[in-house]
Amino acid sequence: MSTNQLDKKSEAWSALFSEPMSELVKRYTASVFFDKRLWLADITGSLAHAEMLAAQNIIAASDLADIQRGMAQIRSEIEAGSFEWKLDLEDVHLNIEARLTQLVGDAGKRLHTGRSRNDQVATDVRLWLRDEIDLISDLLKELQVALVDVAEKNVDVILPGFTHLQVAQPVSFAHHLLAYVEMFARDAERMADVRRRTNRLPLGSAALAGTTYPLDRERVAQTLGMEGVCQNSLDGVSDRDFAIEFTAAASLCMVHISRFSEELILWMSQNFGFVKIADRFTTGSSIMPQKKNPDVPELARGKTGRVVGHLMGLITLMKGQPLAYNKDNQEDKEPLFDTVDTLKDTLRIFCEMVGGQLNPATGQKEGGITVNAQAMEAAANKGYATATDLADYLVKKGLPFRDAHETVAHAVKAATSHNCDLSELPLTVLQGFNASIEKDVYECLSLRGSLNARNTLGGTAPAQVKAQIARHRVRLA
Ligand code: ARG
Repeated sequence: MSTNQLDKKSEAWSALFSEPMSELVKRYTASVFFDKRLWLADITGSLAHAEMLAAQNIIAASDLADIQRGMAQIRSEIEAGSFEWKLDLEDVHLNIEARLTQLVGDAGKRLHTGRSRNDQVATDVRLWLRDEIDLISDLLKELQVALVDVAEKNVDVILPGFTHLQVAQPVSFAHHLLAYVEMFARDAERMADVRRRTNRLPLGSAALAGTTYPLDRERVAQTLGMEGVCQNSLDGVSDRDFAIEFTAAASLCMVHISRFSEELILWMSQNFGFVKIADRFTTGSSIMPQKKNPDVPELARGKTGRVVGHLMGLITLMKGQPLAYNKDNQEDKEPLFDTVDTLKDTLRIFCEMVGGQLNPATGQKEGGITVNAQAMEAAANKGYATATDLADYLVKKGLPFRDAHETVAHAVKAATSHNCDLSELPLTVLQGFNASIEKDVYECLSLRGSLNARNTLGGTAPAQVKAQIARHRVRLA
């Protein structure tokens, strides 16, 4: 290989090859146009490796200085957009190494001592993903705070709670929103857990079997802020569990987003009219002038399929792969990158759609979800949402629950035929169903009475909801 030219990847290996790659094969095998986004992780990993090589006297201190100088220059070239990415150099690793050698000569060629692209790429992806997980964790927290903020203002707003999408029992709107806070809190826990297994160092596994140089892998891990080193070189170069785990956690998070989206879409429809979202998250129709379509929640619901698809892609990618590194693994990047992009964008947009945007003039957030409390309460008044409360009332009067259930079914039937709510049936009519019913029954037939009565831990009584809000505030502080 000539000293200062490494312009083609064939020059990265040897004279063993008797014919060049065809253009089609080059394009088919190259990853540089998507893996170049790993450039900062690649430089960071290389610098940690080089520093250790020098500390172990595997390369000279002057080589380390050259490598550091060259990498600083490459960094500024990439940041300035003047770095020339070459398809011929296949991937981010060979592109950066070739430029380094061009800039600093032999020291650049010494950088690859004791490593291979197999442990290098595994390290880069882990470093990159670790930082992305941190950004996603911040967004998950922000979204939870936005939901708790809206919840706090709506503790006494009554929503018909549904099962089977049929009116079931009245619930506090805040309680409903806090259900999503629980989901996103679990997502954040899962991200923290995935981060631990992502943040381990493959570097030093070399191609597959480890290396003959006296590397100090623990030192590199420490420099990179990693929590440990991969303990088996074969596993180190080939493990992509962390990418699958991350995509699984991301899929579940998107599933939660899709459930919330579906509710927003329903709530915004004319038939519900429970909430509004700011106009900038909706679009009009080119033909129907009256329309305001909830495009953002709909797209988020759709993008959930895309992320779940990436999970299927990655898990299938690994199925049946023999140890150790195989070129198949290059296919881990696009699904992983797209999962990160989709999840981050979705979380960002939901933070704003729920919580609003900060108005610097007032220091207040504006333009989040608008709640129509009257429409919610009117809907809750329609579906005999307090029927269970009447049954519970009768149980407290001594009736077995099954009998109480049957009695209330008759009362509901009567109310339906009179086209009124249970609370609108005269006392004498109610007493016709069971003689033990007294005037105090109306207390439990009211929506608020029903809400207040569910005062057990995790229940929808405003006192419980307030306690949950306080707990979340402490947790999210
Ligand atoms: N671009 C490759 C990847 O993403 C880097 C590792 C290549 N290793 C190899 N032995 N061909 O996986």
